[in-house]
Amino acid sequence: MTDNPYQQNRGNKDASITNPHGRGEIPFVESGKVVPAGTDGPFLIGDAMTGGYGRGPDILHSCTIAVNPGEIAVIVGPNGAGKSTAMKAIFGMLNVRSGSVRLAGEDITALSPQDRVVKGMGFVPQVRNIFPSMTVEENLEMGAFIRRDEIKSTMEQVYHLFPILKDKRNQAAGELSGGQRQQVAVGRALMTKPKVLMLDEPTAGVSPIVMDELFDRIIEVSRTGIPILMVEQNARQALEIADRGYVLVQGRNAHTGTGKELLADPEVRRSFLGG
Ligand SMILES: Nc1ncnc2c1ncn2[C@@H]1O[C@H](COP(=O)(O)OP(=O)(O)O)[C@@H](O)[C@H]1O
Ligand SMILES: [Mg+2]
Repeated sequence: MTDNPYQQNRGNKDASITNPHGRGEIPFVESGKVVPAGTDGPFLIGDAMTGGYGRGPDILHSCTIAVNPGEIAVIVGPNGAGKSTAMKAIFGMLNVRSGSVRLAGEDITALSPQDRVVKGMGFVPQVRNIFPSMTVEENLEMGAFIRRDEIKSTMEQVYHLFPILKDKRNQAAGELSGGQRQQVAVGRALMTKPKVLMLDEPTAGVSPIVMDELFDRIIEVSRTGIPILMVEQNARQALEIADRGYVLVQGRNAHTGTGKELLADPEVRRSFLGG
């Protein structure tokens, strides 16, 4: 890895279009708030997390996942590897027995999920990520539950990102297609004006075309200065847009590298990408 942006070959490393440090005019986040001055290293990190559910066995074993300012980090790995568990641990839905979670350099390991939302974490879980009987617009309003300020302009930004949601704003979210429901879920998370967005399988159950469209929208969000940490079962496509990739196996970090490095790694290819 180099610090010279011109030697990095992914589009969203271009500072002129991506605003990697979150300064300046960006739609979802107040100017200058994405990365506090003097914060080096990852924006969000689950560091050496070990833990499981309740009194059950450990699922995560010293698992480390991080996302840097302005980047997209992707977690891939077989079913049951602990990808969702790692996301839940970072979001505070699971007590880690050891390890820590830090956001912009601050230790937030002891915070509740709601307090993490207040700190700037947006999380779209893998399941039950919308209210199906509520309208699209009501879902977005629910997303803004922590806010006391005017939410209208954020809603317009979400509608700008996902125009179909504006057309369907008065329809029950449960009546929408799979891809549109995922847009509602992502839009709902954006309503809190998060400083970092976590997505667990945002393209689950959608067609390849819809997957490509969702990835384009996710890249668009990242270009507004919001770092993105996502789990993806479409490993190859996800690693293609990833600045950093993590392959998890049985709750452990098996392979870590840039998306490009992992795509080129013969062992990763053979074991996880189908050759
Ligand atoms: N709520 C839960 N309670 C107990 N065990 C769980 C729960 N959710 C997941 N697990 C277990 O944790 C392991 C990892 O699951 P998960 O994190 O969902 O994997 P992935 O997202 O990689 O498919 C699995 O063995 C699964 O059975
Ligand atoms: Mg999962």
